[in-house]
Amino acid sequence: MTFEKIVILTGAGLSAESGMGTFRGQGGLWDNYDIEDVATPEGFARNPTKVHDFYNMRRGWLADVRPNAAHMALAKLEQTHKGDVLTVTQNIDPLHEAAGSEKLIHMHGELARALCANCGTSRPWTEDLSLATSCPACGESGFMRPDVVWFGEMPRDMERIYAALAACDLFVSIGTSGTVYPAAGFVAEAHGAGAHTVELNLDPSEGASLFAEKHYGPATKIVPAYIETLLNG
Ligand code: APR
Ligand code: ZN
Repeated sequence: MTFEKIVILTGAGLSAESGMGTFRGQGGLWDNYDIEDVATPEGFARNPTKVHDFYNMRRGWLADVRPNAAHMALAKLEQTHKGDVLTVTQNIDPLHEAAGSEKLIHMHGELARALCANCGTSRPWTEDLSLATSCPACGESGFMRPDVVWFGEMPRDMERIYAALAACDLFVSIGTSGTVYPAAGFVAEAHGAGAHTVELNLDPSEGASLFAEKHYGPATKIVPAYIETLLNG
């Protein structure tokens, strides 16, 4: 099978072997933190320090994590494939960029950026954030937050994503449990557009039955192997 327009969806499982941790399953972040407390606007309004601590901890991991073989294989696909490749990631880490992927949408935002809720300015940010942090653009403090999408907020670039799903002939979902919408609905969109659908995951996701092709195992093994078959037809 050869394909022209490829959409890749990635989730926490892609970065698991880089040390970023996942949300669900054994040892997942949501075993130790309540989504309501640390990943909603209401939680931030209730206790901003608790939310800043949660994202400061995860932002702190970024200094020590590196892209793994799966990230590298996806960057190679984008650089080598003659047609279009768009990577849509649910991940807020910068590992796709670090591996060389450029046609990339962070639909849940970016941990390495900070947003000012007062003036709307977003900028790269590697330090801790707190209520005392003042915005370099408007000078106000108390409004800085991680530039990420919380539950109940609108994921980014959805029009561009749905247009790509409607036009693709291959949709590959990698390292996601298929539990959070709208990302979990992308396979149905792609299938509806007539695309071939592939799941690459450690184990079957919630939407496994919706995929035409499935390969299970650690991303650093199955993703490079699958990309090789794609590129060498
Ligand atoms: N290789 C491949 N897949 C893996 C690996 C690995 N080494 N380790 C774990 N996985 C798989 C798990 O089997 C699981 O299906 O990755 C998936 C991770 O699922 P989640 O932790 O639910 O992560 P994700 O699907 O990205 O979560 C979606 O939920 O909490 C929100 O905003 C958060 O973007 C996140 C969204
Ligand atoms: Zn500001």
